[in-house]
Amino acid sequence: MKLHVSGDVTVPGDKSITHRALMFAAAAEGESRLRGLLPGADCQSTASVLRALGCGVPVLPADGSEIRVAGRGIAAWTAPVEALDCGNSGTTSRLMMGLLASRPFSATLTGDGSLRGRPMRRITDPLAAMGARFREHGAPDRLPIEVIGGPLNGIDYRSPKASAQIKSAVLLGGLGAGVPVSVTEPGLSRDHTERMLTALGERVETSETGDAVNLRLTPSGRALPPLDMAVPGDPSSAAFLVALALLADEGELRIRNVCVNPTRTGFFRLVERMGASIRFENERLAGGEPVADLLVAPAPLRGIDVGGAEVPAAIDEIPMLAVLAARAQGETRITGAGELRVKETDRIAALAQNLRAIGAEAEELEDGIVVRGSDRPLRGGIRAFHDHRIAMAFGVLGMRPENDIQVDDRAVVDVSFPGFWEMLERLGAR
Ligand code: S3P
Repeated sequence: MKLHVSGDVTVPGDKSITHRALMFAAAAEGESRLRGLLPGADCQSTASVLRALGCGVPVLPADGSEIRVAGRGIAAWTAPVEALDCGNSGTTSRLMMGLLASRPFSATLTGDGSLRGRPMRRITDPLAAMGARFREHGAPDRLPIEVIGGPLNGIDYRSPKASAQIKSAVLLGGLGAGVPVSVTEPGLSRDHTERMLTALGERVETSETGDAVNLRLTPSGRALPPLDMAVPGDPSSAAFLVALALLADEGELRIRNVCVNPTRTGFFRLVERMGASIRFENERLAGGEPVADLLVAPAPLRGIDVGGAEVPAAIDEIPMLAVLAARAQGETRITGAGELRVKETDRIAALAQNLRAIGAEAEELEDGIVVRGSDRPLRGGIRAFHDHRIAMAFGVLGMRPENDIQVDDRAVVDVSFPGFWEMLERLGAR
């Protein structure tokens, strides 16, 4: 039996951009119009947190059709009556900490079991240095955390990690408080916050020294204007379909309207090094972001070494890359990816355990994983550990006709890619 993958598809809106579009629309003065928002559970969490702060954010429509957000400015946000439930969404909790740090009220952020297991001092430490106060109501460094907002001072923060969540929390803290801030990170993490701030008329300067990147926001003090934007497709979701097309025996897949911001396209560059060819067609700028249609066809893959500087632009796609490596020729070695241990689950452990459970060869490293490829049938059950990307990565591998792979928690994909299983079935109908 052969796997034939062809078609012309779109993926749901970008998760990172959707969170930010909702937050900026809720902080703006005037009516924003937003199209193509990701209706996944993580972004619904951001919408409901903003609603609990008194912002008129509607339920995100399943088809990405336009919503209007009536913003009254961040100064009109009101104290929530209950803890703000961020669900599974790290971005919701961490970026909201930045925005809440300057509000003249207290708000407690919490989340599901997975989110309550993730570190938060990486965010509260720089915000505390700006003058915000926090009360940890659970385990140290973990949600639930009460943000006791107030006036903030500026900061020149040197971040130990290339993390868009850390960088964005500091920038949003500075924006809300109206104080200049700068963040230096060891390599540029995804830059959607800076791009949107610039598009909204704020001054963000970027400079590079050696390997480090510095971002400096000097808030204008003016009210944020409303947004009118279309969110492009999520390259992290497109990565799963690209992997499916690469694993196929025949066909050709076109994925339209994908965000190809260079801070997000690391996975595409890495699979090209493995032997794939991914064509970017119809490249354009939309809503301040580079966008393209991707064209991809099956290709034999070989193992590669992936290290340090390449990781940030592919961080959310490493699960798919490691799983693809099980079908490549030779060994793939991924290092410098210790951050994977504190994502929705410990992704290094989850990958190694699941790869071995289906008969693939994988070795866990402290900061990465080594996978040895083969073409023998891979069979067995996958534990998703409540992680959408673990579930989807193995779901793709399960489409190979010789494999027989069952994922225990299929519903978890709704976090970032509602309709994922239906699309997989449709595209890979054998
Ligand atoms: C995100 C930043 C990344 C990424 C996450 C989304 C964002 O996390 O893994 O899925 O939208 O800012 P880090 O900033 O912790 O690397």
